[in-house]
Amino acid sequence: MKYPKPTRRSWAEPFKIKVVEPLKTTTRQHRMAAIEEAGYNTFLLRSEDVYIDLLTDSGTNAMSDYQWAGMMLGDEAYAGSKNFYYLESNMQKYYGYKYLVPTHQGRGAEHIISQILIRPGDYVPGNMYFTTTREHQERAGGMFVDVIIDEAHDPESLHPFKGNVDLQKLEDLIKKVGAKKIPYISVAATVNMAGGQPVSMENLKAVRKLTAKHGIRVILDATRAVENAYFVKMREKGYEKKSVAAILKEMCSYTDGATMSGKKDLLVNIGGFLAINDRDVFDEARNMVVVFEGLHTYGGLAGRDMEAMARGMEEMTKEDYIRSRIGQVEYLGQKLLDWDVPIVKPIGGHAVFLDAKKILEHIPQEKYPAQTLAAEIYLDSGVRTMERGIVSAGRDPKTGENRRPKLELVRVTIPRRVYTQAHMDVTAESILEVYENRKKVKGLKMVYEPKHLRFFQARFKRI
Ligand code: F0G
Repeated sequence: MKYPKPTRRSWAEPFKIKVVEPLKTTTRQHRMAAIEEAGYNTFLLRSEDVYIDLLTDSGTNAMSDYQWAGMMLGDEAYAGSKNFYYLESNMQKYYGYKYLVPTHQGRGAEHIISQILIRPGDYVPGNMYFTTTREHQERAGGMFVDVIIDEAHDPESLHPFKGNVDLQKLEDLIKKVGAKKIPYISVAATVNMAGGQPVSMENLKAVRKLTAKHGIRVILDATRAVENAYFVKMREKGYEKKSVAAILKEMCSYTDGATMSGKKDLLVNIGGFLAINDRDVFDEARNMVVVFEGLHTYGGLAGRDMEAMARGMEEMTKEDYIRSRIGQVEYLGQKLLDWDVPIVKPIGGHAVFLDAKKILEHIPQEKYPAQTLAAEIYLDSGVRTMERGIVSAGRDPKTGENRRPKLELVRVTIPRRVYTQAHMDVTAESILEVYENRKKVKGLKMVYEPKHLRFFQARFKRI
């Protein structure tokens, strides 16, 4: 066989591998037993039984030698660790917010900001929900309202900024419930549940303008904001020549604070923070963090973890890094597109999202097509992915009814700096194999349903 000549020059990972961790391959029989024991939920598999782990990009990153070296400089003081001050100054440098409250991970920050700003009966608009973010908003007595543009719910729409806030929906909500009942809008930069889709700078500016008029705060979910900044550079007029670092800082400048899961953009395995400009909110957050996370200069983290995060900020904004990061996701996605496997378009920043509704169109949503598809891919090759559909959406807290999201997806999530292009090839081939045999696949029934964030621990049986 001859390879066709390339039509463009390739990028390559801007690093070489210094330490390796062997992977284990298993037989189909072994995997059958494992997925059955896991109740057909990939979250309940033992990672030992997984070959290529594409469950999540959260905390699964490979740290650099520079970050590992920093781990040895952990200042493990209970109070006032020098790693905290370094993290604080890098946060100010790269994100531009005034105050930092470290937390053990993203949801720690979501908990704190929700409890401080939301009063029972409030409404919290957002550009699509994220599981933990909405859970904390609801626990604080708030009601989440989706104000993302309609295109986000359509896997086929090629809108370049499917994460955008629909200003009309936001304005309608303000008119309906009044600005006093809206403590803030939560804007996610690259929207996870929509398929890793970015928000445009223009949209952020417009959200800022509209909310400022009504005295409503904007809180950014900055978890994957660097990936968003890269898309702005690639797709938005006027930003082609700007650095990703400058774009990130501009994005943050239209917001009042951010919740952050460091386990994504920051290239670490654990950590997060709340960043805020308002001194009073900061004082309250600093007071709350000591109750729930740890002292305000460590927030549940070791000094070494804060050092690794601070150094991660320096690496995440490097142009060659972010290009290869998004490039690898695109490589996998393009392969599937070339083979006509239905995925969410355009290809997202941190993952390729398979359109399970379309792939398993003979399985109704009540029989969990995405949950089923994730189990089938695992069975085929030991590649682990996750459900992002009706199971993840959970139940409406008021009516107790299942929420029925338009998107019924399987997320094939790429950890940062961990896998090679060959792993992407093996993954794509496994997905193709399952796709070609899709007609034989039957759905699942749920046999155990936890009360909160059910997707993590729910159990299923084959029909
Ligand atoms: N916001 C977004 C957009 C996220 O994707 C996550 C986590 C969080 C907040 C919460 O952060 O996990 O550090 O507490 N997402 C992971 C995922 C779990 O797999 O997408 P956390």
